[in-house]
Amino acid sequence: EWWADERKDQTPESKAIEEAAQILRSSDVPVAFPTETVYGLGADATRSVAVQGIYRTKQRPSDNPLIVHVDSLEMLDRLLNPENPSSPSATKTARASIPAIYKPLIDRFWPGPLTIILPNPSGSQLAPEVTSNLTTFGARMPSFPLARLLIHATNRPLAAPSANASTKPSPTTAQHVYHDLHGRIGLVLDGGPSGVGVESTVVDGLCGTPAILRPGGIGIEELRQCAGWENVTLAYNDGTFDVKEIPRAPGMKYRHYSPKARVVLFEAGSSPAGVARHVQRDLHDTAIHAHNIGIVRTRHWKQGLDLAPDSVLAKSLQPVDAAIENLFSFPLPVQETGSPNRRTKLAYDYHLGSDTVSIAHGLFAALRAIDECDVDVIYVEGISDKDGDLAAAVMNRLRKAAGAEMKA
Ligand code: TXA
Ligand code: MG
Repeated sequence: EWWADERKDQTPESKAIEEAAQILRSSDVPVAFPTETVYGLGADATRSVAVQGIYRTKQRPSDNPLIVHVDSLEMLDRLLNPENPSSPSATKTARASIPAIYKPLIDRFWPGPLTIILPNPSGSQLAPEVTSNLTTFGARMPSFPLARLLIHATNRPLAAPSANASTKPSPTTAQHVYHDLHGRIGLVLDGGPSGVGVESTVVDGLCGTPAILRPGGIGIEELRQCAGWENVTLAYNDGTFDVKEIPRAPGMKYRHYSPKARVVLFEAGSSPAGVARHVQRDLHDTAIHAHNIGIVRTRHWKQGLDLAPDSVLAKSLQPVDAAIENLFSFPLPVQETGSPNRRTKLAYDYHLGSDTVSIAHGLFAALRAIDECDVDVIYVEGISDKDGDLAAAVMNRLRKAAGAEMKA
């Protein structure tokens, strides 16, 4: 077994896990823990009062259901087959199993950043608050060992949304969790920065054509390689394509991932000249009182000043016109629009990296750092949705941060 080498009560880590498990079993206070995607805010999924604690702590709308985290297929099997004391064993019916459509996904992607939607059985052990009274529940087996060790030690399925205050960017470090929720949670297990950096992909194989309800850590092309999932549809709407339905993952309709700054996202392929003109127009618009602007670069925007978010240099502000010229190699046509507001400064200039993996990994930390730098408006260089497995998830989160309209 993967935990066989863990000698209980010997390492500080196993002590912390045991303490967290104890809180989860015996109190109504949620506990934050690391996963490979983002940090989760966990509670015993079988106890209503514990699950209510999650909604209260995060200020999460009660109609947004939670993902149930399991450490093993055995634990999931027990959830699908609750013991029902009111029906005697004589009337035993066939055991429910995970629908066959999910088999290839589980074989390939579990444990890992994939959530599957399952029917919630009658007599379910899950607290009704977990499912927001839907007839289904989302289940996921995380790959990060600390997460599975915690579920194992608690010996309960754990309901866990991302451990941020509702509408804030998801946390990818224990410090992010502490920043949002300190004083309101039992403890946070620190497992270092989350590897993937965006949440799990949520898929529904229960009705008609299989659908992706939320893009995430498992890519669309990876899913399409699995038997039965070749024609998987995209049942979420981030404003770039036509979806007739209301978002089927209730969480996808809410404002999300929002720093205080206004986020202006440039889709992949925007011309540098067009970007520079847009930025200039913004800065000359007296209705926009931008004092500090920020820039988040990905693949192509020219290396700027490379100010790490926490560096002392980041606080020594740069004149914005020089910064834009430097960034886009595009001189400001001051004769057209007059002189830019001289008080406007470049307060944040950050390169997420050029490959999609590092962009996903650093995305939420960057959105949070922007708030720390007191930036009024941030210009972000987008990537193509098809440019790597995590690209659709990255752009989905960025479009939401930029306030893309939900048309459904
Ligand atoms: O990576 C992740 O999934 C992280 C970590 C902690 O595991 N968790 C996470 O949870 O992102 P949360 O609550 O932030 O997002 C859960 C998403 C929401 O969009 C919710 O609407 C959807 O899953 N969801 C949960 N149960 C559902 C159900 N029965 N039917 C449809 N969508 C569901
Ligand atoms: Mg969330």
